[in-house]
Amino acid sequence: IGHIDDVQELRKSKSSYIPERFIRDTTERPKFDKGVVCSTKNIPVIDLSKLFRGNKDEFLNEILKLTVSCQEWGFFQVINHGIDLELLESIENVAMEFFMMPLEEKQKYPMVPGTVQGYGQAFVFSEDQKLDWCNMFALGLEPHYLRNPKLWPTNPSNFSGTVEEYSREIRKLCKNLLKYIAISLDLNEDVFEEMFGVAVQAVRMNYYPACPRPDLVLGLSPHSDGSALTVLQQGKGNSVGLQILKDNSWIPVQPIPNALVINIGDTIEVVTNGRYKSVEHRAVTHKEKDRLSIVTFYAPSYEIELGPMQELVNANNPCKYRRYNHGEYSKHYVTNKLQGKKTLDFAKIKLD
Ligand code: SIN
Ligand code: FE2
Repeated sequence: IGHIDDVQELRKSKSSYIPERFIRDTTERPKFDKGVVCSTKNIPVIDLSKLFRGNKDEFLNEILKLTVSCQEWGFFQVINHGIDLELLESIENVAMEFFMMPLEEKQKYPMVPGTVQGYGQAFVFSEDQKLDWCNMFALGLEPHYLRNPKLWPTNPSNFSGTVEEYSREIRKLCKNLLKYIAISLDLNEDVFEEMFGVAVQAVRMNYYPACPRPDLVLGLSPHSDGSALTVLQQGKGNSVGLQILKDNSWIPVQPIPNALVINIGDTIEVVTNGRYKSVEHRAVTHKEKDRLSIVTFYAPSYEIELGPMQELVNANNPCKYRRYNHGEYSKHYVTNKLQGKKTLDFAKIKLD
């Protein structure tokens, strides 16, 4: 990706010119008319303090809300998650400082082809593929062998320390959420922890500069996540950018200050045999405002073989996915373009 394809550089030029490679075919363009984007519904909000230390009734009521959230939405926001708000602010600050560096500086950490690590655009495999109006910076975090020291910026100086601390806190949150999700399915609370081994964790920072023609481009192509669970932090003062597909409408996710957005990834869809589904989502751009998001992916260890849990397969819900190795799934995910839920075809059993 050269100068001309770097959206922050394009934005700096202040011209309203949009290179052809960013202009979507008419069927893919985000429509801003009310008929398509339904803003009257909001994704559910889960109060984690009720799960951490609520009385029995509060706990069960929140678990019920979690069941509905996972079953009908695949997306929810969590409030009272217990993560230090200063840490949330710090991660945003270091991410912003990183993206504000000159292009030459950021290009010292180029996206490694066939992976999602480094700076640039991931998921681009052909000349005729459209580009997203987004700059990404991504790092593998856990287990430690995934860390590529060459990709860890030395600038800003507190970048690494902040990412480390953030990573630890989000990991704890993911482990807790997976417990509650297990409970919401009437399963043993440790079922996912035991199934996933030493979980893989990665972070991706997305920077979406304002775009003179938000009607023609996408910030991020529609996709479901290849993770088990994803935790998304929207930058303070963000414009609305994230949209999820529900009942054929794109529903914007209204940022709630200090909340985190959680979504079900493909792994949970497979192991629950589709009881909880990963939901397609995308990002759109804004005419005047830039947007930042910080996304953590939490997934099984690459050695793990996965498939639907026996408890969730029965005559009414026959087995929908085959068993596969998560490392292979992950490889398949990062070596294909983002295209709705297409990556999950990898695991689907053809039922007829
Ligand atoms: C993502 O799906 O990875 C990010 C979407 C967003 O920026 O809100
Ligand atoms: Fe995503």
